[in-house]
Amino acid sequence: MAKKQYPCDSFPHLIHGADYNPEQWMAQKDIWDADMELMGKANCNEMTLGIFAWSAIEPREGEYDCSFLDEIIEKIGSNGGKVILSTPSGARPRWLAEKYPQVLRVDAQGRREHIRGRHNHCFTSPVYREKVHSINRLLAQRYGNHPAVIAWHVSNEYSGQCRCPLCVAAFQNYLREKFHDDIGELNQAYWTSFWSHTYDSFEQIEPPGELTETGIHGLNLDWNRFVTRQTVSFIENEIAPLREYSSLPVTVNMMYEFTELDYHKVAEVIDFASWDCYPEWHNGDNAVIAQRAGFWHDLYRSLKKKPFLLMESTPSLVNWKPYNKPKAPGLDVLSSIQAIAHGSDSVQYFQWRKSRGSSEKLHGAVVGHDGTGDTRVFRSVQTTGSILKKIDEIAGSYVDAEVALIFDWENMWVLEDCQGFSNVDKKYMETCYAYHRIFWERGINCDIVSPHGDLSGYKLVIAPMLYLTDEATARNLENYVQRGGTLYGTYMMGTVDGNDLCYLGGVPGAGLKNVFGLQVEEMDNLYPEERRHASLGGVSYPLEDYCETVKLLGAKAIAHYTDGYYRDTPAVTECTFGRGKAIYQACRDSGGLKEQILADLLEKLDIVSTVDTREALPHGVTAHSRTDGQHTYVFAENYLETEAPAVRLHRPMENLLTGQIEDHCKLTAYGFSIYKSL
Ligand code: GLA
Ligand code: ZN
Repeated sequence: MAKKQYPCDSFPHLIHGADYNPEQWMAQKDIWDADMELMGKANCNEMTLGIFAWSAIEPREGEYDCSFLDEIIEKIGSNGGKVILSTPSGARPRWLAEKYPQVLRVDAQGRREHIRGRHNHCFTSPVYREKVHSINRLLAQRYGNHPAVIAWHVSNEYSGQCRCPLCVAAFQNYLREKFHDDIGELNQAYWTSFWSHTYDSFEQIEPPGELTETGIHGLNLDWNRFVTRQTVSFIENEIAPLREYSSLPVTVNMMYEFTELDYHKVAEVIDFASWDCYPEWHNGDNAVIAQRAGFWHDLYRSLKKKPFLLMESTPSLVNWKPYNKPKAPGLDVLSSIQAIAHGSDSVQYFQWRKSRGSSEKLHGAVVGHDGTGDTRVFRSVQTTGSILKKIDEIAGSYVDAEVALIFDWENMWVLEDCQGFSNVDKKYMETCYAYHRIFWERGINCDIVSPHGDLSGYKLVIAPMLYLTDEATARNLENYVQRGGTLYGTYMMGTVDGNDLCYLGGVPGAGLKNVFGLQVEEMDNLYPEERRHASLGGVSYPLEDYCETVKLLGAKAIAHYTDGYYRDTPAVTECTFGRGKAIYQACRDSGGLKEQILADLLEKLDIVSTVDTREALPHGVTAHSRTDGQHTYVFAENYLETEAPAVRLHRPMENLLTGQIEDHCKLTAYGFSIYKSL
């Protein structure tokens, strides 16, 4: 039975807050007082402080001044609010880089950066690590047990790479360790005899870059892994003093469609996940935009298998997209509630108050330059806050999913890197979204998991385009099916191993031929306008991009190609393996084929929607549920600006916003309903 798990144990509530930078208003303390009043009015109960406050706290090396933090934390606390305190390593003071240039990154052309911007430090530099460690220790000692502080927000949006001599040496050591100090082993794993690129020693290895080797795919993959590892080790260095002096939970704020870091690895060192969600609302179909944002909400929830925090979102607009459109009235509230529906225990904004100058002065904020609460945006935030108060009991409850979709950063990197298939766009992300959409449209909860994750609790696991399938993944999938699970794999699965070397002896490799009962023979890569077709149950479905031909080795075909030189051969297969089943979709459909196969599977596996439907909900409508083991909470959401047809519930429930008992709801434009089981 699910039980409550809170991101921040000392504050078992839904959090409504924002990034707050009072250090920008040090010369105008009246603004601080106005802020306190406005926070209450906005129904906010949290502020995230200190993200970019390093030079305010340590204006000169070793000279610390925490008075502004003391004062503001005190003010927020006595105003009834809580603080998530950030470590300030996302942006460093000028003196630090001036005195220790090694903290500045070296780019892919070998150039050392000047002092500028943020999120641009060498993660290997011992000096940077030491300076960060010192200021974090100070913060932990001073605020680690403060009653108003509820969590640590470590740095800000870790990203980027550095190729300075320190990083190069660390990379070489990483490889030395991985290949047991045996350069022959590395050469073998990297297949360096190709083009005579054999290494004689680890000292010869340079990271891939604009002027260096990029053709060795195993090296590229290991470089990406190293970047994650070095970032994680930097995070561990940040967290060490926090853990020493404080028992507060630790998070890092992650990002939307972020490709550089393997967040499955980052998740291992934090206590709860949080992320910054900035979809491009209104640029196209909001139903699609909502579903894609939902994918990432699902992913961040699944990272730690517990409620996460929506650490940043804009209350209106951003200022860094090609076109910066505000969220429409109604959608602003709905997009916040969306996070809660997917398992977030917070709605937080970037930013509380608009800065007056510099690059983000036109970015949306709860409080604008007018300085009042008398704006449309402020009133929307107030509304969201009052809704969160009404549904506060949902905090700590969890989204239970019977379906999981495997998403893997390593797979994304190697697919991006590999030359073959379509070199324009392999569409890995798109394909993951397309499978996720099937569940989103039906109101079926879906987790997004690592290929190494625990799959035992799922009735159905989808593994789109798992081109890189290492041994551990193959065993994980095999055991899952063996024990009764239903696995849905697709074209490209099991092509390369964990070193990005092609499997010998037939694909899918690593024993998966037995699980799927087939071997792939050939891939037809279609031109963009070309279509092929597959027939399933007498219906013809269009296919695009990829059609593999397969030899059956125990599987049975459930759909056939109807054209191409592979006409009448299997397009989709099913194989019984152990107590479970493995489905293989050998082709990419343009929409329809996978939907039909999955509809049949959902029926067979008795996987039902959180609302009363056996089909896709009306376009733009979705539903989610959370549970604390005792009560179920159902969210129904309409992302279109038109009213939606009624959504029926499985049984009468209490509408948490009105107190009424209802068995269906009418969703207005950008409307939503939130129910509790009786
Ligand atoms: C990111 C950063 C914030 C701010 C916002 C603007 O998420 O973490 O500091 O720059 O973007 O949207
Ligand atoms: Zn470096």
